[in-house]
Amino acid sequence: MADSDVRYGLAGVLADDTAISKVVPETNSLTYRGYAVQDLATRGSFEETAYLIWNGELPTKAQLEEFRRKEREERGISDDLKNVIASFNKDAHPMDMVRTSLSYQGQEDREADLGSGMSKDGFDEEALRRIALRMYARLPEMVAAEYRHRQGAQAIPADPALTWSENFFHMCFGEVPAPEVVKCFDVSMVLYAEHSFNASTFTARVIASTTSDIYSACVGGIGALKGPLHGGANEAVMHMLKEVGEPDKARDWMLTALKEKRKIMGFGHRVYRSGDSRVPTMTDYFKKMVDTVDTDEARKYWEMSRILDDTMVEAKGIYPNLDFPAGPAYYLMGFPIPMFTPLFVLSRITGWTAHVIEQLSNNKLIRPLSAYNGESQRDFLPIEER
Ligand code: COA
Repeated sequence: MADSDVRYGLAGVLADDTAISKVVPETNSLTYRGYAVQDLATRGSFEETAYLIWNGELPTKAQLEEFRRKEREERGISDDLKNVIASFNKDAHPMDMVRTSLSYQGQEDREADLGSGMSKDGFDEEALRRIALRMYARLPEMVAAEYRHRQGAQAIPADPALTWSENFFHMCFGEVPAPEVVKCFDVSMVLYAEHSFNASTFTARVIASTTSDIYSACVGGIGALKGPLHGGANEAVMHMLKEVGEPDKARDWMLTALKEKRKIMGFGHRVYRSGDSRVPTMTDYFKKMVDTVDTDEARKYWEMSRILDDTMVEAKGIYPNLDFPAGPAYYLMGFPIPMFTPLFVLSRITGWTAHVIEQLSNNKLIRPLSAYNGESQRDFLPIEER
């Protein structure tokens, strides 16, 4: 029986304060530390955004240089971790691979317990930021090495001459693509970086609230992000576009799927009800990818996605979320579909770690109540009497 006091899925519940990002569903806006994501994505870079999310202010030129220098210094996963990755089952989901790799790095990292209740000194923001930077610097190498392992190819070491985004392409494909492609990827990283108390961030905060270590919190975040109702939707969108097949089938496909009461991936959002603030920017960059790739296949995905979007809005009034344009944009960049959600991890690690730090700076154990609806209390009978 439903209890009227229960807020199923914690919908509408304010669980804590945050100064990291603000979602305003009424105006479809999202700001990180007060800056509109559209501006950060189109006029700034993911490196500046990561700095902003952790430090609360945009960097000056000198601060950005210093931040980049430190990030490059932190690059380079251990040989032991490379061997662990080389031992992974090639059929395993890439999210399981990155979850395991980050967890492995956690047990290697001598500083892992610093900053949380796991160390005798307790909360230490500087230590937590150092670890956060280390995860941000090394996760791309993990994801790239895992990709190359699945391809049966050798891992490619990081190149200190390249930016964070360029270096990721270099480690995956052995080359840096056209600037338009790198920019589209960088834009997606900015847009995916942070989104208040979404499921994976809340998971990370719950774990942090026990004063466990920051790696445990982020590994938990990866687990939550894997689900198709959350980050896994960007993969599901691409599978849907493949299933639809052709633009002239898109409208009927959508109407039939809705009649069958299917959940359409890449549409809907718990917080936004009339459009996701990140979608217009990502859709522009998806289109730029289509124009850059300039193939019939790319144009086909673009046309199909326009028709699916229009049909869904017309039939149900449900709008696309960020995963809808991001999925096909990643596909056109050459990433295999199961790799899309690990790409999301590379970006969201900034948001997760900022939230862990914020949680620990004013910590209260997260422990809600439940409305019990099981059997009333009864007498225990010894086994012979049952
Ligand atoms: N396809 C079809 N119908 C959808 C839908 C979708 N993607 N999203 C919401 N709806 C419908 C629901 O069926 C429900 O209809 P009903 O009232 O007739 O039962 C109504 O809209 C409310 O949806 P609900 O699932 O209760 O909203 P929610 O806040 O719990 O769910 C999501 C939000 C994101 C989980 C949901 O929209 C969804 O599953 N989307 C697809 C997965 C996705 O893209 N996830 C990425 C999110 S960024």
